[in-house]
Amino acid sequence: MADVLIRTQGITKDFGDKVKTRVLHGIDLEIREGEFTAMLGASGSGKSTLLNIIGALDHSTEGEVFIGGTSLNDLDEDGLAMFRNRTMGFIFQSHFLLPQFTVLENVLIPHLIYAGKAKPEVEKRAAELLDMVGLSHRLNSRANAISGGEQQRAAIARSLINQPRMILADEPTGNLDTANTEKVFSVLQTVNRQFKTSFIMVTHNPELAQRSDRYLVMSDGRIVEDKYLNPKCLE
Ligand SMILES: Nc1ncnc2c1ncn2[C@@H]1O[C@H](COP(=O)(O)OP(=O)(O)O)[C@@H](O)[C@H]1O
Ligand SMILES: [Mg+2]
Repeated sequence: MADVLIRTQGITKDFGDKVKTRVLHGIDLEIREGEFTAMLGASGSGKSTLLNIIGALDHSTEGEVFIGGTSLNDLDEDGLAMFRNRTMGFIFQSHFLLPQFTVLENVLIPHLIYAGKAKPEVEKRAAELLDMVGLSHRLNSRANAISGGEQQRAAIARSLINQPRMILADEPTGNLDTANTEKVFSVLQTVNRQFKTSFIMVTHNPELAQRSDRYLVMSDGRIVEDKYLNPKCLE
């Protein structure tokens, strides 16, 4: 059985100062290396909050997140930023590409954040990733000059440039039509299989969940259903 990559232990989250509202009620979750997990659940059930805590974009109120054995609680803000940059890729519903830069430059940004500049082999990797997501003809287009589906695929290539062990995708196909949803999902699955990258993908699309290795359902800050569809993950 593959090793556990992501482990959460008793994660709770309260929002508000005077009046506290608990939106996560003690989440215990394990995600293995190479596992593609879909996360379903009604709007407001806590999916993004949980994803942001796993991705160290937000702090939990209680509990601990371990990534490959490292507790996020043990890292200071700089350590977290570096850990996040090197270990995790993020894909959001809105792609957050920098519009005035080219597609290739956008893909290089997570690398530039720690390396300062990109060596030719990194530029080559960026071009290869863009080829993989079907954008080899768009390398030098400005990010605001390509279609929404293409922008989301560029964001996928960007999430991969630092060769992360895990990708957190929050409704990555939420803004896309059926054809582009299919393209984006198929790229995510290819990445998962080729690089053994672990995925947690929030989606409202039950059909995509059925095509994942496992799906979770959240309701009112709890995981209420957890089902493996691919028994290979448990071997
Ligand atoms: N920054 C915040 N401040 C206060 N409440 C928040 C904040 N972020 C999320 N919430 C609340 O937490 C609950 C869960 O939100 P969220 O994680 O965004 O749900 P989902 O992604 O499943 O739609 C909701 O009730 C939401 O209003
Ligand atoms: Mg959300």
